[in-house]
Amino acid sequence: MTADNFNKNDEVNSSESEIFIESEDSADDQAKQKNAVVTNNLTVYFNKRSAIEDVNVKIKKNSVTAVIGPSGCGKSTFLRSLNMMHEMTPSAKVFGEIYINGESIMNFNMVDLRKKVGMVFQKPNPFPTMSIFDNVAAGFKLNGSAGKNDLNEIVEKNLINAGLWDEVKDRLKSPAVSLSGGQQQRLCIARTIAVNPEIVLLDEPTSALDPVSSSKIEELLYNLKSEYTIIIVTHNMQQAARVSDQTAFFYLGKLIEISRTRKMFTNPKEKLTEEYITGKFG
Ligand SMILES: Nc1ncnc2c1ncn2[C@@H]1O[C@H](COP(=O)(O)OP(=O)(O)O)[C@@H](O)[C@H]1O
Ligand SMILES: [Mg+2]
Repeated sequence: MTADNFNKNDEVNSSESEIFIESEDSADDQAKQKNAVVTNNLTVYFNKRSAIEDVNVKIKKNSVTAVIGPSGCGKSTFLRSLNMMHEMTPSAKVFGEIYINGESIMNFNMVDLRKKVGMVFQKPNPFPTMSIFDNVAAGFKLNGSAGKNDLNEIVEKNLINAGLWDEVKDRLKSPAVSLSGGQQQRLCIARTIAVNPEIVLLDEPTSALDPVSSSKIEELLYNLKSEYTIIIVTHNMQQAARVSDQTAFFYLGKLIEISRTRKMFTNPKEKLTEEYITGKFG
């Protein structure tokens, strides 16, 4: 990439619809600094087959990004590469660059990276033998960074932020698994944000939940973005439209388009995006 190239793209992308993301050009130093996540030709193989190919994104701090696309198109693979989850999979090979708040992911050890980049999964996964309180406190207990008084405060604050405090404040010592699925998912969000991450990844966090629980989590995301950068994979296009500032559409391992959500759902750049969001395939 030449300097000329970059400047050209920079101008094109300065329109209102492109404030959050520029996907065409590769990462430069300035972009790495001002964005929470920058990927440069991110490619992931499982054995000899690519799951995602040449994904270039720039995701601004304190924004919500929705990742949409049919099953098997690489949404989870993309998300999981942002906190090095493929390290545990022997058949996985990751190519390209990832920058978290300006720093190459290669410079982090796994523990430090996971503190900065938290993850919430489709199926709520509280630590099953632990109480509600201990689930939220777990991150701090593990690295011994808080005393008991601090812990009480930390647990309360994070349960409030996860929209769960009022429902559990009288039974903090109860087992986490005594909660409903929707409450368990909010507990997992509380546990994730208790470590004070900068980026929160959520992989279809509401697809196993009822509509009321889902809408509680949607509200929560809106509130959380003042403190965190959020990337959420969702199958639900209405949900993407409601919660996100920008949306990334993946198809067959390629990032087809990443645009402001409003633009994506009214006037997408790519015909394929339009066909997908209007239900022509899926
Ligand atoms: N651990 C794995 N081993 C082998 N192939 C995988 C693995 N994880 C994902 N894949 C493949 O990578 C592609 C993308 O999968 P995934 O990222 O899970 O898609 P999505 O989240 O969009 O449904 C699929 O073809 C899937 O079968
Ligand atoms: Mg998935």
